[in-house]
Amino acid sequence: MVHLNLFVVVVASLVCFTLAQEKYSTKYENFDVDKVLNNDSLLTSYINCLLDEGNCTEEGQALKRILPDALKTNCGKCTDAQKLKIEKIMKFLIKNRSIDFDRLTAKYDPSGEYKKKLEKFSA
Ligand SMILES: *[C@@H]1O[C@H](CO)[C@@H](O)[C@H](O)[C@H]1NC(C)=O
Ligand SMILES: *[C@@H]1O[C@H](CO)[C@@H](O)[C@H](O)[C@H]1NC(C)=O
Ligand SMILES: *[C@@H]1O[C@H](CO)[C@@H](O)[C@H](O)[C@H]1NC(C)=O
Repeated sequence: MVHLNLFVVVVASLVCFTLAQEKYSTKYENFDVDKVLNNDSLLTSYINCLLDEGNCTEEGQALKRILPDALKTNCGKCTDAQKLKIEKIMKFLIKNRSIDFDRLTAKYDPSGEYKKKLEKFSA
C-alpha cells in the first residue's frame, strides 16, 4: 500500500508539473516585434534563421523551437502576449513577404493545417 501511495503522489506531481509547463516560456515576452518588422535586414535575418539559411539570435533560436508546436496547436500554449505577436508577424509576412511566408509554411506547416486556419481570419 505504501508503494501505491507513493506512486499516486509521483504521478500527481508529474501531472501538476506538466500543467504548470503548459505555456511557453515568458522569457521572450518583451521581444520587440515592431522593431523587427520595421527593420528589413533584421527581419530577413530572422527569416533566414527559421529557414536554416543563416545564423540565429537567441530569440530566433527560441522561436524556431516553439514554432512547429505553436502552429500545430494553433498557439494553444501561447500566452496572450505571444499570441498577439505571432499573429502580427504572420499578417505582416502574408502581406509584405509572401514568398518568404510560403517558404516558411512549406517548412513548418507542410500539411497546410495552419494556413487553412489563417486564411479564415485574414480573408
Ligand atoms: C536594423 O538591424 C540591424 C541588425 O540588427 C542593425 O545593424 C541596424 O542598425 C538596424 N537598422 C535600423 C534602421 O534600426
Ligand atoms: C554565421 O556566423 C558565423 C560565425 O559568426 C559566420 O562565419 C557566418 O558567415 C555566418 N553566416 C551567415 C549566413 O551569416
Ligand atoms: C507592410 O509593410 C508596411 C511598410 O513596412 C507596413 O506599414 C504595413 O503595416 C505592413 N503590413 C502588414 C499587414 O503588417
